[in-house]
Amino acid sequence: MADTFDLTVIGSGPGGYVAAIRAAQLGMKVAVVEKWPTHGGTCLNIGCIPSKALLHASELFEEAGHQFKTLGIDIPAPTLNLSQMMTHKDDVVTANVSGVDFLFKKNKITPFRGVGSIPAAGRVLVTGEKSTTIETRNIIIASGSVSANLPGIEVDEERVVTSTGAIKLKEVPKRMLVIGAGIIGLELGSVWARLGAKVTVVEFLDRIVPGLDSEAARQLQRMLQKQGLEFRLSTKVAGIEKNPGSLNARFEPVAGGDAEFAEFDVALVAVGRKPYTEGLGLEAAGVALDERGRIRTDAHYQTNVPGIYAIGDVITGPMLAHKAEDEGIAAAEIIAGQAGHVNYGAIPSVLYTSPEVAWVGKSEDELKAEGIEYKIGKFPFTANGRAKAMLATQGFVKILADVKTDRVLGGVIISKNAGEMIHEITVLMEFSGAAEDLARTTHAHPTLSEAVREAALMCGDGAIHI
Ligand code: FAD
Ligand code: NAI
Repeated sequence: MADTFDLTVIGSGPGGYVAAIRAAQLGMKVAVVEKWPTHGGTCLNIGCIPSKALLHASELFEEAGHQFKTLGIDIPAPTLNLSQMMTHKDDVVTANVSGVDFLFKKNKITPFRGVGSIPAAGRVLVTGEKSTTIETRNIIIASGSVSANLPGIEVDEERVVTSTGAIKLKEVPKRMLVIGAGIIGLELGSVWARLGAKVTVVEFLDRIVPGLDSEAARQLQRMLQKQGLEFRLSTKVAGIEKNPGSLNARFEPVAGGDAEFAEFDVALVAVGRKPYTEGLGLEAAGVALDERGRIRTDAHYQTNVPGIYAIGDVITGPMLAHKAEDEGIAAAEIIAGQAGHVNYGAIPSVLYTSPEVAWVGKSEDELKAEGIEYKIGKFPFTANGRAKAMLATQGFVKILADVKTDRVLGGVIISKNAGEMIHEITVLMEFSGAAEDLARTTHAHPTLSEAVREAALMCGDGAIHI
């Protein structure tokens, strides 16, 4: 006999598993269908979590080799135990994905293993070792995204890799090609550069990290160049020939001109991700997609078919785990008859390079383009006492506020721990706060966060320490 649920979630990434937990908290009987052997989706299994484990370990490796001496710690030059670093990464993944299993049990959520498809609203077919049909009042699709491909470049996940192969290389490549100077390219390019690879990043546009404030992007590029990454902007990779001992890549200037060739050991394709809807049977269910293959929803995450909702990477908006999570919470609340809501104007982004770059709200480029009159409060970490103590004086905080009302419209931080500090500006924006609210808030001394307050002061009468 078919099981009956209030809600069935397809996909257990940050969008799906959080939606399931919130729905269970609200009293619903919830099922989750996942085709992978573990829960947690891209983020926990092959994305956010393993990449941050490698970013942390490789950053310490780099610091031990370069900064410790200045701090008075004399140690022999560190040597790399890559297999142990990978074990650490795998252990972190296991701990996180089993955390989701624990949360499912705690919230009495029923997991199903297999591919979920939707023959019609109100029913989910699970195809796996034990196929079954679930009767369900509501469905949330949280099927996520997969790496985008480049025509003519065949990924084998060993020599030509996506992020999935790049987090499990068995040895440090001597020469690594990164295609795309976006978030994945710079994070994983940094990991392998710190561990000894000569990394060349080829980017189609004339700048790195599209969407990031262009001043911060220029500064980050200079910092990464100092760390040994080489950038080829306004360039495309037109092909990769796989030879027995090396990869031969063909570069072409975007504006036209002569092609160049260069040899690499590993190439990482990091040119974006695309929504994943394979196997869901959306056509049969009558669920409409948009022109970019994303599931179309209304402001309440409902598709064109009543009772079928979609959230996360598979719908419009930034492909970020916390955006997926918050949509999961909002969708569950809406299904429960509450007023679930996500403030898309205040979703922070963090690039976990060294230093980190974090931003929220509008960038200066966007304010200019939209003709909004703004003022800038900018404070460098060279003038922050704690940053000096930590040998972390690179970077700045920039706060953008409305000229007339002083309301904070956006901010960008480039520094160590920027990803933690950005939430100060995010919370302020959530409450429609003014720069003066932040400037008048006492900040503990000595902390890096004092630079955030000083930037807010710069929007008014001026900072104290500069
Ligand atoms: P996903 O996490 O992709 O989960 C979808 C799940 O659905 C998968 O488990 C899949 O197996 C399952 N599924 C799909 N179809 C079916 C089906 N028919 N039946 C059953 N199961 C199905 N974001 C951040 O915010 N911070 C980061 O630091 C960060 N780092 C990243 C690093 C890398 C290398 C990558 C690739 C991504 C990173 N992201 C990061 C992005 C983040 O992983 C995604 O935004 C997030 O995982 C999206 O969540 P989701 O729930 O929409 O989908
Ligand atoms: P991205 O969209 O961040 O960057 C892709 C880059 O590739 C862009 O700069 C683009 O101009 C460039 N590009 C596209 N085609 C190209 C070509 N043919 N040749 C050269 N360059 C080309 O995508 P990325 O880095 O693959 O990441 C995918 C998603 O995953 C991002 O949207 C991001 O939201 C998410 N993610 C988030 C992380 C975080 O929050 N820290 C970490 C990793 C991924």
